[in-house]
Amino acid sequence: MKEIKKIGILTGGGDCPGLNAVIRGVTKSAISRHGWEVIGIADGFEGLVEPKGRIRELTLWTIRGILHEGGTILGTSNRGNPFNYKSIVNGKEKVIDVSKVAIRNVEKLGLDCVVIIGGDGTLSIALEFYKRGINVIGIPKTIDNDIMATDYTFGFQTAVVTATEALDKLHSTAESHHRAMVIEVMGRYAGWIAIESGLAGGADCILIPEIPYDINKLAEKLNSRSAAGSKFSLIVVAEGAKPVDGDISVLKGSDKGFGIERLGGAGNRIATEISELTGMESRVTVLGHVQRGGSPCSFDRILSTKFGVAATELIAKNRFGEMVCLHNNKISSIPITDAINSLKLVEPDGDLVRTAESIGISFGR
Ligand code: F6P
Repeated sequence: MKEIKKIGILTGGGDCPGLNAVIRGVTKSAISRHGWEVIGIADGFEGLVEPKGRIRELTLWTIRGILHEGGTILGTSNRGNPFNYKSIVNGKEKVIDVSKVAIRNVEKLGLDCVVIIGGDGTLSIALEFYKRGINVIGIPKTIDNDIMATDYTFGFQTAVVTATEALDKLHSTAESHHRAMVIEVMGRYAGWIAIESGLAGGADCILIPEIPYDINKLAEKLNSRSAAGSKFSLIVVAEGAKPVDGDISVLKGSDKGFGIERLGGAGNRIATEISELTGMESRVTVLGHVQRGGSPCSFDRILSTKFGVAATELIAKNRFGEMVCLHNNKISSIPITDAINSLKLVEPDGDLVRTAESIGISFGR
């Protein structure tokens, strides 16, 4: 059993509410319970490749007051993959493998383990380092809630609360103006934020990637509401929603080469089409990064703290290469290799969809 003295911690990929609560959970339990030193690595993997000015000790003092803060005190990056690192070589931008530099820096820092907090992409990089002999522990994060191995990721519930509040606000203005209000929410290729906020916010239609929509069915729903006296409608559109005969909407300049496809435009497309088909006036709200910011809700603070503490317990047991997760409402762990590369999607005929359809919500099918 390896004796642990010093651990590192970094946050990679997009930020989300609850990251600071995890950093706090890991640091508090590492210092108070296990007596380890904790090193914060700034800006995700970039901090391991180019550590100058990016390494600092985390103490009980430096992590005070961060539980309720959004973002990450360590900073993050979704472009610093050391195995595919953008660098300037002889004046030209090139993509090179600098993973050996990162490994050397872990050794120089004397880190017995690195806690890596991130989504699918970040955890895949963590696995590559593990395969090359670096002790890592993964902690899953994403507002999209699309990581298969865990019932929930922290950040998701906060995003749902934010989207629900937006729907509550749109409701009154939609009704006053007899408009079709379209709200586009995040989630990438999964419809979790859309379906949960749509249910909580009283949406009339919810469009998710898992159920390709027929725009005519959507128009029928709006027309039947109008005929019954409800001259307004609320439509939640997941950014990854797609028509039965088409593809998802991707923003121009998306960086597919780095595996980062930027989604966007689904809401505008749908608003234009329903106006044409129904004659209703429509407006679009793209909620965007508001969903990623702000203070985590209490569920996320608790889950983050549990994940942070569980990560230190795995380290103490030398269970490197594993990722903490929530399974049937219990904190557990799974090898990172089994946790990545398969998305957790909304079941088209599962509980949530059946519940929604039973109360008259249309998925455009
Ligand atoms: O994965 C989290 C997420 O917020 C997605 O829901 C969204 O598609 C994407 O990240 C946005 O990424 P960026 O912050 O790079 O624009």
